[in-house]
Amino acid sequence: MTDSHSEHLPVLLNETIAALDVKADGFYVDGTFGRGGHARQILAQLSEQGKLLGLDKDPQAIAEGLRLSKQDPRFSIEQCSFAQLATPINERLWQGKVDGILLDIGVSSPQLDQAERGFSFQKDGPLDMRMNPDVGISAAEWLATAKVEDITFVIKTLGEEKFGKRIANAIVETREHTAITSTTQLATLVDKAMPFREKNKHPATRTFQAIRIYINNELDDLKAGLEQSLDVLAVNGRLAVITFHSLEDRIVKRYFRDEARGDDLPSNFPIRADELNPRIKLISKAIKAGDDELAANPRARSAVLRVVEKIA
Ligand SMILES: C[S@@+](CC[C@H](N)C(=O)[O-])C[C@H]1O[C@@H](n2cnc3c(N)ncnc32)[C@H](O)[C@@H]1O
Repeated sequence: MTDSHSEHLPVLLNETIAALDVKADGFYVDGTFGRGGHARQILAQLSEQGKLLGLDKDPQAIAEGLRLSKQDPRFSIEQCSFAQLATPINERLWQGKVDGILLDIGVSSPQLDQAERGFSFQKDGPLDMRMNPDVGISAAEWLATAKVEDITFVIKTLGEEKFGKRIANAIVETREHTAITSTTQLATLVDKAMPFREKNKHPATRTFQAIRIYINNELDDLKAGLEQSLDVLAVNGRLAVITFHSLEDRIVKRYFRDEARGDDLPSNFPIRADELNPRIKLISKAIKAGDDELAANPRARSAVLRVVEKIA
């Protein structure tokens, strides 16, 4: 197993650091530490007084974070979901004092690259897909017992896969005689269930994405992470979120739009726009990777960065 921070190229690095507008003495949270690509850049902007807390679900990310915390006393790390970020923030008495939070959602390159983590349809490994393999059930365990309707729902809604029902039927038929325990087994099964092949896209791409999102509770975590982030930020503090597919980006975009608009009152309610108590202002439109970054890092292709500032 290989495990070094150089394996994950941070996406939209300069854009994210600029958007966070890091204050040298500020308190910052990187809710998705990964291998610390963004975290190291935030630390580079901080003075001796500044502090950065890293969070991640993944034990390998935590191991890397612990190494960094030994070298840099301004940095600390906790293994938890950013959906519960208020807990370590409260323990540090940072409630309402956080100057910036980054959520760089999704999986890291090491998670995808290590066959034994079970995220990749291109590498044969146990069908696990958990960011924290010590918590919850693996993808194989779920597929062994889930109802066909539930599998269909997950693949259709979280994978936006129109052949979800066919794929779910194939899974259920297969598991009657053979346990589905490996990534290539699932990828081959999905491939066979598809009526045709798309150009330049493995047929199992959307199914793997769907099962991963479900197993890790990613969309609910994102919603909770956005809410908790706004709660703990200081006024003028910034929240930067990088997403990698449309389902997540839609959640972020709508949440920011609603919070920037303020109270949800009927449109004919006699009140001025500035009386609607918006909590945030939008700092920029969606930011995407430029040509240079895309040439160096194809993973950046689908990345979208959105940034807001807390105003109340
Ligand atoms: C795209 S990578 C982040 C990479 C990081 N910015 C870097 O430069 O190295 C996403 C990371 O977030 C973690 N993660 C995903 N969802 C999480 C959640 N709800 N709570 C905490 N960590 C999460 C994953 O384990 C993974 O390490």
